Amino acid sequence: MFESEFLTATEESQEAYRQFIARVVETICSSLPAQSYRGKTATELATLIDSEIFPKAGSSREIAGKLATIVSNSVVVTHPQTVAHLHCPPLVSALAAEVVISTLNQSMDSFDQAPIATLLEQKLIRWLCVEAGMPDTSGGTFTTGGTQSNYMGLLLARDAFLQSQWNWSAQKAGLPPETRRLRILCSEVAHFTVEKSASQLGLGTDAVVRVAVDDRFRMKLSALEASLRQLRAEGLLPLAVVATAGTTDFGSIDPLPEIASLAHAAGAWLHVDAAYGGALLFCRRHRDKLAGIEAADSLSIDFHKLFWQPIPCSTFLLRDQHHFESMKLHADYLNPESHEVSGIPDLVTSSLLTSRRFDALKLWISFQALGRDKLSAMIERTIDLAACAANAVRNTPRLHLLHEPELSTVVFRYLPSRADLDADNLNAELRQLLFDGGIAVVGHTRVHGRQCLKFTCMNPTVSESQMESLVRTVAQQGEQLEREWQSS
Ligand SMILES: Cc1ncc(COP(=O)(O)O)c(C=O)c1O
Repeated sequence: MFESEFLTATEESQEAYRQFIARVVETICSSLPAQSYRGKTATELATLIDSEIFPKAGSSREIAGKLATIVSNSVVVTHPQTVAHLHCPPLVSALAAEVVISTLNQSMDSFDQAPIATLLEQKLIRWLCVEAGMPDTSGGTFTTGGTQSNYMGLLLARDAFLQSQWNWSAQKAGLPPETRRLRILCSEVAHFTVEKSASQLGLGTDAVVRVAVDDRFRMKLSALEASLRQLRAEGLLPLAVVATAGTTDFGSIDPLPEIASLAHAAGAWLHVDAAYGGALLFCRRHRDKLAGIEAADSLSIDFHKLFWQPIPCSTFLLRDQHHFESMKLHADYLNPESHEVSGIPDLVTSSLLTSRRFDALKLWISFQALGRDKLSAMIERTIDLAACAANAVRNTPRLHLLHEPELSTVVFRYLPSRADLDADNLNAELRQLLFDGGIAVVGHTRVHGRQCLKFTCMNPTVSESQMESLVRTVAQQGEQLEREWQSS
């Protein structure tokens, strides 16, 4: 009776599976909109999804139509005019792997739920550690993203600090009163998940000390030294320094070797947030920019950014995997201590999660399908496209470029022709107009308090002329908006 609802060994169920998957794939291909986004507002979208959530009797026949509504009102991540976020078009090889991941539904917490998957993930992690220049003691885990990886880095840094300074186990005893004195340092433009982690770790967002950046948005070493000195003078304790290899807005890479020396001399843990820039490890032309990354005590690398994997796919690497001990707990039904004695690898011990997807598979399949040379070329190409966009911005009279791109982002502003017009509001309205009008999905941020526009190039299939045309479109729409403002 339920045979066609599951994939089993029977012909009937396998045929139902094939047909369902084929119909879904067909719906996606035939419903993808031609624009980056169709521009519908939240109110308009709400009316499109007001059908009954859970009908008494189901039918797969109507699913294609309902799915088409979702597909056709999604942001098209492969569109050349979708350039807002670190939100990549996923590789076809990884999309196919997603079907395998979900069909097999291995759960990475225990060996008996994911035998070969456990070994493949372990092998990938070991290989990644070697690629990042980490020692034999290193280890890691797949995570849901940079947010979780940054959190893990700061969690383990906190626990190691409490243990080494005060022989205190946070896992057993919670936080000691001295925790108030702990500080985490990161640059002014580091990701907001540093504060988010600090708040969740019982340190509070006030524990985060933001260090000034230079004119290329990299952490200023003199400012880091001054901050460390100041903390010492105030009796405060630098628990960790977070260096960023690829900041979200500017792609800037902090000076890693120097930060490592300063952090370690101050007794602090070095976490490198390479969620974005970690891809340079595999890019021949730009690999050198990550020199010093091997000194990290922990490291975040997202594969759902410049490795073109569907969300989620990310990793957390740890220089000395013994630090995972501080978060280890045993459950009799899952990872009993006897498994450790007999050498059964249960990955739950090194993860924040219990049930967990086999995301390592899609990365591995993409590596097999692409090969190293092609991935390297794709990363290079994406970085070149940002340089092309920056050049176009520089050569467009009403646009002002705020930085030389380091990776694949380009931050700029539309400059109104009249000084009495509110440039910040104009830039904000311009971006909204592009989105609502289904013209382009462009990013935004604030730099030195001013509202800016941002391109985040993530699509190596885009041509230079498409990039230049997008820059022209933004400028033209800005001019038109300005005219409307003046006439109203
Ligand atoms: C530098 C950096 N770190 C961390 C994150 C958070 O990553 P995720 O969205 O994968 O959790 C981002 C997201 O863009 C990022 O740019």
